[in-house]
Amino acid sequence: MLILGIETSCDETAAAVVRDGREILSNVVVSQIDIFAEYGGVIPEVAARSHLEVMIPVFEKALSDAKCSWDDIDAIGVTYAPGLLGSLLIGTLTARTLAILHDKPLYAVHHLKSHVYANWITGSLESDMSNCPLFPLLALVVSGGHTQILYMPGHNQFEIIGTTRDDAVGECFDKVAKILGLPYPGGPSIAKAATGDENKYFLPHPKVDGLDFSFSGLKTAVLRAVQKEVGVPISYPSHKLKELLSEQQVRDFAASFQKTAVEILVEKMKLAIEQHPDVKSVVVAGGVSANEKLRKRVSEVFSFDNGVSVYFPALSLSGDNGAMVGAACYYEIQSGVKPVDPYKLNIYPRVSVES
Ligand code: KG4
Ligand code: ZN
Repeated sequence: MLILGIETSCDETAAAVVRDGREILSNVVVSQIDIFAEYGGVIPEVAARSHLEVMIPVFEKALSDAKCSWDDIDAIGVTYAPGLLGSLLIGTLTARTLAILHDKPLYAVHHLKSHVYANWITGSLESDMSNCPLFPLLALVVSGGHTQILYMPGHNQFEIIGTTRDDAVGECFDKVAKILGLPYPGGPSIAKAATGDENKYFLPHPKVDGLDFSFSGLKTAVLRAVQKEVGVPISYPSHKLKELLSEQQVRDFAASFQKTAVEILVEKMKLAIEQHPDVKSVVVAGGVSANEKLRKRVSEVFSFDNGVSVYFPALSLSGDNGAMVGAACYYEIQSGVKPVDPYKLNIYPRVSVES
């Protein structure tokens, strides 16, 4: 089954053709990073307009790279939520129009589900199915907007067992990067700069009961530590702090912050595994899953020795892309999910607390 996956939830315009949820035939991603690097963050209105400019060439290229015609496509999957409203509208309207024009079933796919299903993309259908995660599993979803632990007893079954009470970990990477004067997007910049002493600055772990997270305090702890280090009062403008930091201090702060953020995630996952001793796999998903330190620590802590196997998406699939939407859509179809009516408004982006 060939699925065209379309993703426009934030600042990547993406489309891909995926066979049977596991094999990528094409994967086209046009990133707006260059536009937003200048501003230090995403401007939603500009993001939506940029999607509009490239959406058609992007899905056309996905089809031509896959050497597919519309006759070959069995279904269309599109991200409907969560994300930036204007950005989501471009993707969902495109997908609805294509579904009507080419008479294809249309599936509305949740963005975080797609991130999780990036872990099922094995490259080729010939590769052994045992390369795929086993159920029940725990998914650590770490992106720019979300930080969640999901319990998945089977395909397309998700129970949120932990979530952030304030900021997402990716957002925290981005904000700390700003304090340190590192370029947008902050996550990869921090990872690159984190060559200093990770024990140089003590940053406290939040005291949140159970499996929930909190990252707003860590962000403030970095800010206060930087202010203390450079000897200015807390009223000093945070965007000017970077001018007072030496390169070595930036490297030490980046390393100390990254270590703390990763340890907070790992500690909660340890607790989640203790509470769910039946799990066979741990899956890490979302933009922050590209972080090498996180990959290393999760692999060390949750290894085969504990009877748990650990999965990360291919680095090229950890950020937003259409292939993961195609994969998630395939497993939705296999689980009996019905297509949506492209004429109705039922896949308009839904912005709610749950999403
Ligand atoms: O999943 P994603 O591409 O978009 C959302 O769904 O939000 O995640 C983007 C987030 C950003 O906060 C970005 O800074 C972070 O992922 N990120 C990283 C790394 N690469 C991207 N964070 C830490 N280390 C990285 N290597
Ligand atoms: Zn994402």
